[in-house]
Amino acid sequence: MKKILPYVCPVNGDELILNKGYYRSPSNKKYKIKKNIPRFCSEDNYTESFGFQWNKFDNTQIDSFSNTDLSYNRFWAETKWDPKRLDDLNILEIGSGAGRFSEVFLNSTSANLYSIDYSAAVEANLRNNKRFKSRLILSQASIYQIPFKNNSFDKIFCFGVLQHTPSFSESISAIVSKVKVNGEIVIDFYPYKGFYTKLNAKYILRPITKRISKKFLLFLIKKSVPLSLFIFDIFEKIKLGFLIRFLPITDVRGFPKELNNKQRVEWAIMDTFDAFSPEFDNPQRLNKVIKMFEENCCKVTFGGLVKFKGGSAVVIRAVKIS
Ligand SMILES: C[S@@+](CC[C@H](N)C(=O)[O-])C[C@H]1O[C@@H](n2cnc3c(N)ncnc32)[C@H](O)[C@@H]1O
Repeated sequence: MKKILPYVCPVNGDELILNKGYYRSPSNKKYKIKKNIPRFCSEDNYTESFGFQWNKFDNTQIDSFSNTDLSYNRFWAETKWDPKRLDDLNILEIGSGAGRFSEVFLNSTSANLYSIDYSAAVEANLRNNKRFKSRLILSQASIYQIPFKNNSFDKIFCFGVLQHTPSFSESISAIVSKVKVNGEIVIDFYPYKGFYTKLNAKYILRPITKRISKKFLLFLIKKSVPLSLFIFDIFEKIKLGFLIRFLPITDVRGFPKELNNKQRVEWAIMDTFDAFSPEFDNPQRLNKVIKMFEENCCKVTFGGLVKFKGGSAVVIRAVKIS
């Protein structure tokens, strides 16, 4: 059995000591363990919407629950990793949400997975992946204060997260600090393609919708999605797809084809909430993100669009060179 990396104090890097119900630093700073998950950050932070979302829709997008292979296809297409060669490595997942990629990773390897998320979504992840709990080292922590020593990980992945952090470039620096020299980082993010990227209902309405109480926003979305979905399908049918961006609904064209109608509506509600509720949503130009990696002593081995069965994503793969 591979040795588990110890937690360190996210503030000063001191190794933590496990006590009953909490971790403690030599200088006596305490980090509580709640619902079997160590918490290395304030639970009250800007990711509240995600904690709410992933605990409400905890298993909606989990492959084994929805009987789809979207997360599986996306994970292996984006990383291009060989599952047979990961077992002895230390791998970190940042921003795991309800654990759709944690499940894919743990199901396809016998490796340990270190995983953090800044929100209460970690509780949904543990529920979804409790069958792997001996290999899932899960904590609530921020990308800016990761509770492991620098240069600890052979590989790090971070999917669907970085556009939702307050500073994309500081997030890249924080990730790079935790990977070993010659270790690899794989990220994906929303691309900025010009002014029309933000000519979209989500960017127009989000300054308001992110301020509405999460419960009320979900109520509004539940009420509006069936009609929006109906109009969406008509626009698609009569080839007016360009108008879809003005509808207050997520783009459902990437959903797995095998979803039944009830699932399709539930996915649409969840993804629409995901689009309209976050505090931050900062799409990025690919070239700029490549530069951020280069400025952090990394060689970018791939930067561009990755297509997989059921969708596509803009991905960067980078190796830390010094
Ligand atoms: C859109 S969700 C993606 C979750 C998961 N990776 C997926 O694709 O299903 C974004 C996640 O990033 C997390 N997140 C946002 N800011 C973070 C930060 N500073 N540190 C760690 N996680 C963060 C949120 O809590 C949320 O669970």
